Formats: sequence, C-alpha cells, structure tokens
Amino acid sequence: MKLGILGAGELGRTFSDIARSMGIYDAIIFYDDFNSVTFTGERTYGDQNAMIKDFEAGKIDEVAIAIGYEHLQEKQEMFHRLESKVCFAKLIHPSAVIDETACLQDGLIIHAGCVVGPRTIIERGVFLNISGAVSHDAKLGSSTFCGPGVKVAGNVVVGSSCYLSTGVTIGTGVHVNSGWTVAAGAVLIKSVGALPVENQFLAGVPARIKLRS
Ligand SMILES: CC(C)(COP(=O)(O)OP(=O)(O)OC[C@H]1O[C@@H](n2cnc3c(N)ncnc32)[C@H](O)[C@@H]1OP(=O)(O)O)[C@@H](O)C(=O)NCCC(=O)NCCS
Repeated sequence: MKLGILGAGELGRTFSDIARSMGIYDAIIFYDDFNSVTFTGERTYGDQNAMIKDFEAGKIDEVAIAIGYEHLQEKQEMFHRLESKVCFAKLIHPSAVIDETACLQDGLIIHAGCVVGPRTIIERGVFLNISGAVSHDAKLGSSTFCGPGVKVAGNVVVGSSCYLSTGVTIGTGVHVNSGWTVAAGAVLIKSVGALPVENQFLAGVPARIKLRS
C-alpha cells in the first residue's frame, strides 16, 4: 500500500514515522500546499490537487492530513473537502493498546505507547500523541489534537478541533466545548460551559480561563 501525507512539516514526518512502524506501506510520499520540499529537504509530489489526482490514478491508496494545532478548523474543513475524493488512513503505532470495543474513525492518528479504553469514541482526524491515555466511555471530537502524555478520564467529552497541550489531564465526566485550547500541564476538574472566545484558553491546576498576552 502507498500512503500520501498532506503536510510536509514536522508533523508530517511524525505521521510517516508511525506509518513506517506499522509495516504495511511500501511507499510514503508527501504533498504540501505551501512548500515544495519536505521537512528533511526532499521534493514533495505537489499540492492537494496533485494528491487527489494521484489517488484517482491509483498511485496512492490512502491519505493522512498532517495539519497542526494552530490550524484545527482548517483541518476540519480539509477533511470535509476531501472525504468524497480520497480514502483516509488510520495510523496506529503497533505499541498502542486499543480496547476491542473502542470506536476509532478513519483519519485518526495514534502514536506510540497510547492506551485507549473500552467504548471510547475517537473521531476522524484526531491526533493522540505519544503516551496518551483515554479511559472508558470517553469521546474525542473530530480534528482534536492531543500533545504528548494527555490523560483523559472516563466519560469525558471533548468537542471537535480542541488543542489539548502536553500533559493535560481531564477528570471524570468533564466536557470541553469545541475549539478550546488547554495549556500544557493543565488539570480540568470542571466542565467548560462557555463558548470559545478568541484569545482565551485554559491553564493551570485546577484549570482556569486565561487570556493570551
Ligand atoms: C496554550 C499555549 C500554547 C498558550 O501559549 P501563549 O498563547 O503563548 O500564552 P501566553 O504566553 O500569552 O500566556 C498568557 C498567560 O497564560 C499563562 N500560561 C501560559 N501557559 C501556561 C501554562 N501551561 N500553565 C499555566 N499558565 C500558563 C502565562 O503565564 C500568562 O499568564 P499571565 O497573563 O498571568 O502573565 C501554551 O501555554 C502551551 O501549552 N504551550 C505548550 C505547547 C506544547 O507543548 N505543544 C505540544 C505540541 S505536540
């Protein structure tokens, strides 16, 4: 199988590391709408239109979208745009432990050492970085991005396009609305009801609303 990765930066390289560890892809190639070379200096195969053409021509079988935490809304839109045109890869590092009752949607990426518990739902385009843990009956909404070591307790609901930074912990049953950023090391013990406001994020132990300076 051949994998195309849209996004030739460092995140794309991480996705290609995970794909390589799976041992099922005999080629991994990069596309990028803004750069003609990859993070390591090789030429890309063109932009997203070139990627769609290559998919239609059978030159690639699956696609991974490597758009980072600064552009999660764009990532969500990219998935909508491409869903009828390509097949999304589900990249799961072989060291991850996934309960058989977990529901994992196409287009998600799960890195090394993650643990995903029973009856969890992880939606399209979620990235769970190294050593993440999602306990039972939790849900991570589409295109949510989790930094290394994020811990999500049982019955948590995280909306779409959230950015949970390195080491965030979310307590049992807490709900996080779509679009929120949670700063590194924050511990959420209560649900966050308000709609996201530009320049606000959650930080600290216990987490409180902060304004970007
Ligand atoms: C969420 C984040 C990106 C916000 O960064 P930012 O927009 O530059 O935030 P600012 O520097 O403007 O900080 C605004 C306020 O929040 C505080 N703050 C920022 N990050 C904080 C944190 N992790 N914990 C506690 N307080 C924090 C600042 O001290 C500042 O407080 P003040 O107004 O009292 O001075 C950043 O906190 C973060 O989590 N970075 C980690 C990135 C990371 O690990 N990514 C992994 C990707 S794989």
